[in-house]
Amino acid sequence: MENEHFETQAIASQLERTSNNENSVPLYLTSSFIFDTADDMRAAFADEKEAYIYSRYSNPNNTEFIHKMCLLEGAEAGVATASGMAAIFTTFMTLLKSGDHLISCSSIFSATHAIFTKHFPKWNISYSYFNAGNPEEIEKLIQPNTRFIYLETPTNPAIEVIDLAVVSAIAKKHNLLFIVDNCFATPYIQQPIRFGADIVIHSATKYIDGQGRVLGGCVLGKKEIIHDIYLFGRITGPSLSSFNAWILSKSLETLALRMERHSENALYIAQQLEGNAKLEFIKYPFLPSHPHYNIAKKQMKGGGGIVTFSIKGGNEAATRFMDKLKMILITSNLGDSRTLATHPSSSTHCKLSEEERLAVGITPGLIRLSIGLENKEDILKDVLQALN
Ligand SMILES: Cc1ncc(COP(=O)(O)O)c(C=O)c1O
Repeated sequence: MENEHFETQAIASQLERTSNNENSVPLYLTSSFIFDTADDMRAAFADEKEAYIYSRYSNPNNTEFIHKMCLLEGAEAGVATASGMAAIFTTFMTLLKSGDHLISCSSIFSATHAIFTKHFPKWNISYSYFNAGNPEEIEKLIQPNTRFIYLETPTNPAIEVIDLAVVSAIAKKHNLLFIVDNCFATPYIQQPIRFGADIVIHSATKYIDGQGRVLGGCVLGKKEIIHDIYLFGRITGPSLSSFNAWILSKSLETLALRMERHSENALYIAQQLEGNAKLEFIKYPFLPSHPHYNIAKKQMKGGGGIVTFSIKGGNEAATRFMDKLKMILITSNLGDSRTLATHPSSSTHCKLSEEERLAVGITPGLIRLSIGLENKEDILKDVLQALN
């Protein structure tokens, strides 16, 4: 039975029990699957009969993970991948060919930006960027060879919020696919397909796991497109391991609870830091001072767990802040039960020029805090003592 509510769907939808009648879903650590007869194997390869063949294609743990993600995002079908970048790259490579063009936003995850700038030129694929604050610009960027619009919202690390309904309307008008990386929000907070997106991508490494244990990703959307992405992935091999799928499927059972608490803690930290004399600015989607606050309120159920702020005194002050943190950990990851700090200009975005960083809101003093599930007073105390 498909249950109505998010929390219930995330828990109740699971693989059918085996004859052992286990409570917890078994882990299928097998590279391939066997057939009773040669004809059964032929029928599976000929798509006449649904069957597991080989774990690069699929396996029961991946099926369960994807089934849940589809329910939660409102998607028809999905493909599980080994990481978020595997999901992004497999989608791009399935949908694009030499001579094609795509439109994205200048505020985008650094590795996605690197695909556009470093690798696409080799395959004669071009891109144009619109500004997050002005998605109407997209119409002017459309070319006869444009295949899709691709964005993430909120963006990493600048926390820009892009109006999904506005972009979706433009995509529909021009018959373009609309693809959203929903990594920062998760389906608990925002469901892009309900706003007209055709494909949703996740780095499950972040909040879907939520405990910093495994890498994973997925692509979700309409059956026909997903089938093409599945066939491409089945050949090229970006598959999710069954162990990681098993972990991620279990993690989804607590996603709603975790996202509620991440959002509550992050809003509190953002509110307490707003106006702090040591900061140039602070950005959080659910602070009324955020330039896209109204859009965030319209399309997001909570503000999510990421707060970014810029410390006065630039690189030196930001580095000192990071080194003074006691409980909060220095890492490039995000979406963990622990509060994590990143200084993007010296780490995740160090390959960009200073000019490129500033153009997408990454000041030398910018800190990205991934607010965890600790007591919010303890998180605040650590941030304040490091600031002071
Ligand atoms: C918005 C966004 N998309 C995609 C990725 C890539 O995910 P992964 O590290 O799982 O490949 C990240 C990683 O930080 C991200 O922040």
